[in-house]
Amino acid sequence: MEEYYLGWIEQVERALSRWGSVSVSIEPRLVVVTGMGGSGVVGDYVEVLSSLKEGSLPVLVVKDHSLPGYIGGNDLVFVVSYSGNTVETLRVFYRLVEKTRNIVVVTSNGVLMEEARKRNLPVLEVIKGIAPRTALPEMLLNILGVLDTSGYTIVSKEEAVGLKKFLEDSMSDAMDKAYSLALDIHSLSKNLVIATHSPLQVLAVRGKNEFNENSKIPVKVEVIPEWAHNDIVGWEKPLTRDWCVLLIVDPDDRIGSRLAGFMEEYYRSRGFTILKLLLKGTTMIEKLLYGSLVLGLASVKLARLRGLDPLATESIAMYKRVVKELIRD
Ligand code: F6R
Repeated sequence: MEEYYLGWIEQVERALSRWGSVSVSIEPRLVVVTGMGGSGVVGDYVEVLSSLKEGSLPVLVVKDHSLPGYIGGNDLVFVVSYSGNTVETLRVFYRLVEKTRNIVVVTSNGVLMEEARKRNLPVLEVIKGIAPRTALPEMLLNILGVLDTSGYTIVSKEEAVGLKKFLEDSMSDAMDKAYSLALDIHSLSKNLVIATHSPLQVLAVRGKNEFNENSKIPVKVEVIPEWAHNDIVGWEKPLTRDWCVLLIVDPDDRIGSRLAGFMEEYYRSRGFTILKLLLKGTTMIEKLLYGSLVLGLASVKLARLRGLDPLATESIAMYKRVVKELIRD
C-alpha cells in the first residue's frame, strides 16, 4: 500500500496534464463538494483552501445520504466517489440531477460514471485500482483545476506545478517522519488524539480517517481555539489516562503556533505525551499534502508494526452490504 502514497507525485502529474479539460461557464452562488469517506474529505481540503483565499467562492461540503434543501439551481456541485458505487453519494447525485445541470463528477469507475455519461455531465476520471483514500491528490487537483480554468481560482496551475516539485523534494523526508511517528505511537500503545490549530482541522480529520482505516484504531480530533471552549475541560478528569497526543503545527502561522503551544503545555501539565508533526511547504496546499502524506504513511507503518493489513477495511465493506436497506425511503 505504501506505493499508492509514493505515487502521489504521479497523481499530481496526471491532474496537471488534464488541467483545463473541464470548465464551467456559470456564475455559481457557491461550490458544493459531496462524497463520503476518502472521497468526501476532498471537499474539506477545497473548503479550507477556498476560505484562505480572499474573494473566492464559498464551499459547502456534504457528507451525507441527503441533499440540503437549499442546494440546486445556481450552485456548482462536484460529486466525488472514487469507486462510483457509494450508495449515499449516488442517492445525492440522483436528487441533484433533478435540480441542476451544474454537476461535475470525479470518479474512477462504477454506476456514477455510467449515470453521469448517460446524462452528458463532465466526468473527471481518476487513476483506477487503488484505495480511494490514497487518490486524494488527483481528486483534489481535478476539482481545483476546474475552478481555476473557470475563473474561480483557489489554487493556480502554477501553484500545482510547484506542489509537484515540492512533493518530489520532500518525499524522503515525509517517509522518515512518518516512520518515526509510527514507531513512537506503537511503542506508546495508547489511544490517539490528533490535535491541531485552525485552519488545519482538515488535517486532523484526514489523519483520524487514515489511522482509522489503515491502522484500525479509533482516534479523537481536537482543534484549538474551539478546543479551549470545551474539550480542555474533559482532560481535567478523564475516565482513562490511556491517551497520547499527536500535535500538528504550521510553524509559519504565528497565532496558530502560539495556540498550539498553549495546547502542548496544557496536555503536558496533565501528564500526556506529545508527539509533534511540524508542517513543511510554502503554500497551504503544499503544507496540507505534506501533512497528509506523513499521516498516511505513518498510519500504514503502524498497521505493519501491528501485523495488520493497512488496505483491508472489512467493517466498511460490511456496512456497504447493508446501507442500501438502511437508507431506503
Ligand atoms: C477507502 C476509503 C473509504 C471510501 C468510502 C467511500 O479507501 O477511504 O473511506 O472512500 O467508503 O467510497 P468511495 O470513495 O468509493 O465513494
